[in-house]
Amino acid sequence: MTTLAKQLESLRNEIREHDRRYYVEAAPSISDLEYDKLMSRLNELERQHPDVVTPDSPTQRIGDKLLGDFATAPHRVPMLSIENTYNLGELQEFSNRIQKNLPDAPVEWVVEPKVDGVAASLIFQNGVFVQALTRGNGQQGDDITNNVRTIRDVPLRLTSDALTETLEVRGEIYMTNTDFAKLNERQAAKGNATFANTRNLVAGSIKQLDPKICAERPLRFFAHSVGAVEGLHADNEMDFLLELQAAGISVVPHVRQFQSFDAAVKYCEEFVENLHCFDFEIDGLVLKVNRFVQREQLGNTAKSPRWVVAYKFEKYEAVTKLKEIHFQVGKTGTVTPVAELEPVLIAGTTVSRASLHNAEEIERKDIRVGDFVVVEKAGKIIPHVVRVELHRRTKNVSEFHFPEHCPECNEPLSKDEGGVYIRCTNIECPAQLKERIRFFASRSAMNIDGLGDKIVEQLVNEKYVRTFGDLYRLTAEQLEKLERMGKRSAEKLVAAIGESKTRGLSRLLNALSIRHVGAETADILAKHFQDVDLLLRAEFAELEQIDMIGPIVAESITEFFKGSHGNAVVEDLKSVGVVMTVAASSLPQNLTGKTQTSSVSKPTPSLFDDETNVESHEQKQEQSTTNRSPNAESIAFEPILAGKTIVVTGKLERLKRDEIERLIKDFGGHASSSISKKTAFVVAGEDAGSKLAKAKEIGVQIVSEREFLAMLPLE
Ligand code: IVH
Repeated sequence: MTTLAKQLESLRNEIREHDRRYYVEAAPSISDLEYDKLMSRLNELERQHPDVVTPDSPTQRIGDKLLGDFATAPHRVPMLSIENTYNLGELQEFSNRIQKNLPDAPVEWVVEPKVDGVAASLIFQNGVFVQALTRGNGQQGDDITNNVRTIRDVPLRLTSDALTETLEVRGEIYMTNTDFAKLNERQAAKGNATFANTRNLVAGSIKQLDPKICAERPLRFFAHSVGAVEGLHADNEMDFLLELQAAGISVVPHVRQFQSFDAAVKYCEEFVENLHCFDFEIDGLVLKVNRFVQREQLGNTAKSPRWVVAYKFEKYEAVTKLKEIHFQVGKTGTVTPVAELEPVLIAGTTVSRASLHNAEEIERKDIRVGDFVVVEKAGKIIPHVVRVELHRRTKNVSEFHFPEHCPECNEPLSKDEGGVYIRCTNIECPAQLKERIRFFASRSAMNIDGLGDKIVEQLVNEKYVRTFGDLYRLTAEQLEKLERMGKRSAEKLVAAIGESKTRGLSRLLNALSIRHVGAETADILAKHFQDVDLLLRAEFAELEQIDMIGPIVAESITEFFKGSHGNAVVEDLKSVGVVMTVAASSLPQNLTGKTQTSSVSKPTPSLFDDETNVESHEQKQEQSTTNRSPNAESIAFEPILAGKTIVVTGKLERLKRDEIERLIKDFGGHASSSISKKTAFVVAGEDAGSKLAKAKEIGVQIVSEREFLAMLPLE
């Protein structure tokens, strides 16, 4: 070997060793500056002697060749996919099949994270990286060799003796969440669009025709499988991965071996609880038969090997940027903060808004505009902000302060006594009025067909409607002046409003938006008093005596009817001919059109303030065209379970115990473990025991998990 050759070889080896320490072990031993110096020296030597440049030299990571298009190449062994399972039952079926096919031998299992990246096959010839292919159609893939060369934890040459003459390693190209965030920050700083998620970014990067662009993306690689090899030492997955690691290839972390399928499944369950600990995206776990001979015995189906299964979990969490905090004023004046987010995909839907619940919550979690936040679908459905990624906070974000004035009417806001909700108490606040009118007209209230959001918006803006009574004074001539309102529809709407006069006391009381009075309480009050005049005269003590009505609700009712506002509302509605006795009701209580599948008693689904889940098709359509998108995105803006004590018992199907209890709290309710007369209702799952019996005994309403979810203003 010439002196130059020796010099080059030692320099390259030194750089390779630092690459390995940095990318594979995550334990660098020199500074970036020192590393850069080594690289410049090598570059300089190779520039002076171009004939000695080898394809595995560290300088060759960024090739200059711009490809016209990707060449395709066949896979030596087809790249199959994996059978997916989504629950423990399906996993068990898989295990039974294996047991049947391998009846005599004990089976060892390996569990690995399923890395949510882009699959790639890497080929090393005599220890030198020579080719990388995408999965393509499984039979042949795109040749992405030049791009994969730029991935720092893919060694261009293996550090130990070659495992085999030809070694095909399969794995996942991915990006860490931290690198992703940094890259997005740089993008934003340059005024460029930011990337939506790591997976798309990885897929887009490796398909760049110019490897220089790919080199700017901090891609990484995890090996997880064996491809085409001959004469491998290892006869099982565990040993194979260890050998790869010894050769300088980074392998998928947290691989565990188990002597039984049950033990492997137990680990899977624990793993799911700790997903947030990883800095890369995981979309499930992979369970593999460890020993290669047993894999051969099992063979493949047309699509996938029989020895491997994926246990996929839907992702309910994502990290995104908080762009803005907006405020939504509800029908009872509650001012709810709403997070405006950089859109992010969570379990199949794009989330761009999430409830922040209340001021205390923002303060406790120290949420600030500009932060990266973890967004989760609470109860797997409603998006909310879990926490801030503090390590990613930049200096320019400042503490958040809740506004002191109503964002809609500018009147001073006040905090609920003892409560956490901040409220606009201006009864004339136009935002509140719109919400109240919208609710008044909704299906579970006065059920006025055709009085959708857009019309309500205009009626309030034009000051045609300032009170509920004003609705009944509207004329077809006035309505015709509204946008897109013809003569016929104006007449129809006037008729529909008129018809609603006889909905009866129960619906009317619900429609009035009295705090803590939903459809259920309204119905109890209507049945008890029969006539609004008797209710108007009722004192706190009398109300509190009524079954299912507690002091908070009783106080709210007296406050409303004894106050001048409530009294005026009732008188006004009376004067326009709205019937206020129970007898007037000729309509069935449940008009929601929802099928009742269970025989257990349940509260009317319209128990709560928000009616998004039960609106008519037309109303929904109209809603989606207005800018009321927060509701369309199923965010709870109002504490709709406020004042309700709810007990959950038995085994639930969809949610975990703490998830359902959090949902109850999210919606302002109280989750309790013991049943009493004050229990609003019981959510009962399978095998519910003594609590269910007690609930039946004292006549507390019982609903199933599905029915409970159906009550909430969700999807
Ligand atoms: S084993 C027959 N192990 O998931 C293929 N795959 O959805 C055997 N994946 O195509 C692959 N992490 O690209 C295996 N630890 C892991 C994995 C993993 C991610 C990918 C792989 C596969 C896809 C199937």
